[in-house]
Amino acid sequence: MASDKMEKIVALAKRRGFIYPGSEIYGGLANTYDYGPLGTELLRNIKDLWWRMFVQKRSDIVGLDASLISHHKIWEASGHTAGFADAMIDCKNCKARMRADHLLEDCISKGVNFSLLKQTLLSPNNKTFNNAEKKILDSVVTTNKVEGLSVEILNKLILFLKPKCPNCGKIDWTDVRKFNQLFPVQLGIVEGDKGLAYLRGETAQGMFINFKNVVDSTRVRLPFGIAQLGKGFRNEITPGNSVFRTIEFDMGEIEYFFDPKQSNWQELFEEWKAEIWDFVIKKLGIDETNLRWREHANEERSFYSERTIDLEYKFPFGFKELWGLAYRTDYDLTQHMDLSKKDLTIVDPQTGIKTLPHVIEPAVGINRLLLMILVDSYREEENRVVLQIHPKLAPYKVAVFPLLGNKEELITKAKNVYDDLKKDFMVAFDDRGNIGKRYMSQDEAGTPWCVTVDFDTLDDDTVTIRDRDTAEQERVKIKDLADYFSKKLQ
Ligand code: GAP
Repeated sequence: MASDKMEKIVALAKRRGFIYPGSEIYGGLANTYDYGPLGTELLRNIKDLWWRMFVQKRSDIVGLDASLISHHKIWEASGHTAGFADAMIDCKNCKARMRADHLLEDCISKGVNFSLLKQTLLSPNNKTFNNAEKKILDSVVTTNKVEGLSVEILNKLILFLKPKCPNCGKIDWTDVRKFNQLFPVQLGIVEGDKGLAYLRGETAQGMFINFKNVVDSTRVRLPFGIAQLGKGFRNEITPGNSVFRTIEFDMGEIEYFFDPKQSNWQELFEEWKAEIWDFVIKKLGIDETNLRWREHANEERSFYSERTIDLEYKFPFGFKELWGLAYRTDYDLTQHMDLSKKDLTIVDPQTGIKTLPHVIEPAVGINRLLLMILVDSYREEENRVVLQIHPKLAPYKVAVFPLLGNKEELITKAKNVYDDLKKDFMVAFDDRGNIGKRYMSQDEAGTPWCVTVDFDTLDDDTVTIRDRDTAEQERVKIKDLADYFSKKLQ
């Protein structure tokens, strides 16, 4: 049922031009996607809103746009070259490679062996796992989260649970091994370390390495944030679920720097939690019953974090991470100071005291926000499918139609209305097929309002506006249309 919904959304996304599989005409390239005309608009609208709320409307956050290709030492300092690895496993039969934790999570969430897991895994008679491992597994059993477990435990769990390969159905696994997710790039003709760079695995490091530049070139004072919207690259392998997890994705990250002697990190953490929640509910219009916060257990938390919580959304394939909030302490700045030998402390102009700020980091994947919006807005009604996307985010705000596609005077009038509205809004024009089909196609595109020019329009300069969500219609004068939509979009 759940995968049925996901399949329908993926099909709609392709049919209406939101998301296409990457490199499709050459047989596709796993875990890559292209955004069509509507997806591009939606993605842009989400990014603009994020930037407006978290940078332009705030006086304590400034923006940054750092290079995607970056020095290998950045990733050494951050710990990514050593620790940014996924535990992968291969099916010996069909050669499919996948993340071991995802394989196990999938197996557990489907209920396969779950009762067995509960009864036997933690029992004192079970000698496969030692007591320390059993303690860790206790949290796995309660949360269904396998992420962050050691290779040793993953290997034992695979042997114990015997999950089937999701690709071929066989149970014939290699050992679990770690694969680093960073994409190396070799620059120019220089061989070896000197020419080695990486596509950034997160935008965050750009904020840390430019921290001193921002302090020296602007008037920021602690506490303040540096925000960045841009691509991150991770060499991950993951089955399906559209753009949920891809090897190239848009991140929206903020590093919020503060002096731990002046600000209480727990309070800042709660403030950011509230900001994120508000953004998702009020600005993106998501149903709050589909959201929950989840605290990371010690063994799951990233190596740099003192506390991490995830805002999770209930996708058709389960509750999954949407937005992470982490207290990264002064880990990154300390690491970069050590490796670069540059002083990254800042001096308080009043007291002259040097400080190395700590950081709270809200980090979100914009493509995941987009997928969540498609899922949350998808409705199947008696005789239509509709995406009830928040009007401010909808790719097209308005669609304009002539009632009949073969009456020149109606087409000309509708084109004039379209040209006028286009000065202020994203507007679609459609004169194909019958009016019912045009409504259907705009409902699936999430267009909040359709304007129809009919024979009465030629007499009294009024048009019909049809509301996407209620399907109610009202008559409005053409000269009032721009005002009407501006008010609705306020
Ligand atoms: N700087 C912190 C950081 O990178 P993360 O949890 O690894 O944290 C942040 O990533 C967010 O980016 C996640 O909450 C998720 O929304 C998104 N994300 C992570 N990996 C992704 C992938 N492979 N594809 C799409 N989005 C991803």
